[in-house]
Amino acid sequence: MKAKLIINKDFTVGKIDNRIYGSFIEHLGRAIYNGIYEPAHPTADDMGFREDVLEMVKQLNVPIVRYPGGNFVSGYNWEDGVGPKEKRPRRAELAWHVIETNEVGIDEFQEWAKRANTEVMQAVNLGTRGPEEARNLLEYCNFPKGTYYSDLRRSHGFEEPFDIKVWCLGNEMDGSWQIGAKTAEEYGRLACETAKIMKELDPSIELVACGSSSLFMPTFGKWEATVLEYTYDYVDYISLHNYYGNPENDTKTYLASSVDMDNFIKSVIVICDYVKAVKHSDKTINLSFDEWNIWFHSNEADRRLERWQTAPHQLEDVYNFEDALVVGCLLITLLKNCDRVKMACLAQLVNVIAPIMTENGGNVWAQTIFYPFMHASNYGRGVAFIPVVFSEKYDTKRLKDVPYIETIAVMNEEKKELTVFAVNRSLEENIDFEIDLRDFNKVELIEHIVLENDDMKATNTVDNPNNVVPHNKGITKINSASAVATLNKHSWNVIRFQI
Ligand code: AHR
Repeated sequence: MKAKLIINKDFTVGKIDNRIYGSFIEHLGRAIYNGIYEPAHPTADDMGFREDVLEMVKQLNVPIVRYPGGNFVSGYNWEDGVGPKEKRPRRAELAWHVIETNEVGIDEFQEWAKRANTEVMQAVNLGTRGPEEARNLLEYCNFPKGTYYSDLRRSHGFEEPFDIKVWCLGNEMDGSWQIGAKTAEEYGRLACETAKIMKELDPSIELVACGSSSLFMPTFGKWEATVLEYTYDYVDYISLHNYYGNPENDTKTYLASSVDMDNFIKSVIVICDYVKAVKHSDKTINLSFDEWNIWFHSNEADRRLERWQTAPHQLEDVYNFEDALVVGCLLITLLKNCDRVKMACLAQLVNVIAPIMTENGGNVWAQTIFYPFMHASNYGRGVAFIPVVFSEKYDTKRLKDVPYIETIAVMNEEKKELTVFAVNRSLEENIDFEIDLRDFNKVELIEHIVLENDDMKATNTVDNPNNVVPHNKGITKINSASAVATLNKHSWNVIRFQI
C-alpha cells in the first residue's frame, strides 16, 4: 500500500502548547501511596518520594500534572492534607470506597512536582464544597504572606507561595457518579461565582470549567453551552474527558478511536464558538482535554475489590501493544487540533491507568503506552503542520472511511528538527509512505524509531518489562525533495529529520 504526506511550511495548525503533554495523578488506588510516595522503599528520598519513579516521570517530560482528582476531589477537604502528618485525619473516601490517610496533600504534592520538573494543575472541590473553600485553598497556595491561609502555609514550612497557575473548577460535575453532581444550570452558576472570587484574589490564574464527562453523556453539548453561557467571561478553558477501549476485541474499530476523539474536539470547538457569537465576545475559549487514555482492562477486577482498603490495586490496566498504537493515534489527534487544545492530561501517570507501573517495595517499569507518549512529548514540540494526507481507507462497524495512516509533522525551530509521527493502522500490509519535503532545504535523517510487535496483545510486566520496546532501525530513504519511509503493518513510527 502507498500513502503520502505533504508538508507546507506556511500551512500550520499552530504553535503547540507544551501543556498538551500533561498528565494526571489522583488520590486513587496506588497512584500516590505506593506509587509516587513510598517512604519505606529503598529509593525513597527525604520526603518519601520514590526516586526510581521520579526518574521515569522525567523521561516523559510532563509539563503539568492535574491533582488531586478526579472523582476524589468532589468529596475532598484540602485542609485534611496539610500540617503535621500525625494530626491528619483518616477518612472514608466515598468516590473510590477506600481509606484516605492524607499523608500526602498539596504541600507534599507541589514539592513532588518540583522534583519531577513539572507544574501542578489544581482541581477544587465543587461537589460538597464551594467558592469559599476554593478561595481559601488559592490563598494558601498563591498568596505571598500576611493573611490567615498564606501564613498557615508558611507555618507549615513553605515560605514561598506555590504559584499554581491552572485551576480546575470541580470535576465531571454532570456525572451521576460524581459526589455532589449538578445540573448544568446549578454548576454554571456555582462555577461562575467561584471563578469570580478566585480571579479577584489572583488575577494571574487560568481557570478550567467542567465540560461533559464524555462525548457519550446524554447531556453532551447542551451541558457545554449552558455552562459557558454562565462562565464565559471568567474562565479560560472548557474540559473534555474521554476514555477508549476494546472490550469487544474488534481491533480495526479500536484503532479508529482517534476519529471519535477528533469529532469530540471539533464538536466542543463549535459549541465554544457558538457561545462566543451569542455573547458578541472577542474572547476565545480553548480546550483542556484533561482526562484521556485507554481504560477498560481493569473494569472486571475492580468490580470485585473489597471496600475500605488503603491503596488497593485499583484501575490497574495492563496495556498491550495495540493500546500503544491507539495512544499514538490519540496523541497525533491532539496535535492536529493544537490551535484549540492547549492542555491535555494523559490519565493517569503512575499505577492507575498509567504508563508507569510499580511493585510495592520493588521495581518500576514502563507499560507499552509509555513509549508513544515519551516520543511525542520529547519530539513533538514546536509548530504542527496541517497534514495533507493521501491514504487508502477502510470501514469499521461504526465509522466509514478511516484512513490507514494517522500522521502529522512537527517542526522544532530551536533544534532545527522536523519530526513526523505516523501510525499504520493496517493489520495486513506495510505502507510505502512518501513525505514531501520540497519546502525544506538540506534534510538529513536523524533516525526512524519504530514500535512494533507481531502480537497485538503483547504486554510489559514486572517479570518481562522489555517485551514491547521501540527500536530505531526503521527504514527511511531521502531522495531530493522527499523521503520514503516503510511503515510496517500495525506500527508506531517517529521519523526525525535535521533541517
Ligand atoms: O481517571 C479516573 C476517573 O475517571 C476520574 O477520577 C474521573 O474524573 C473519571 O471518571
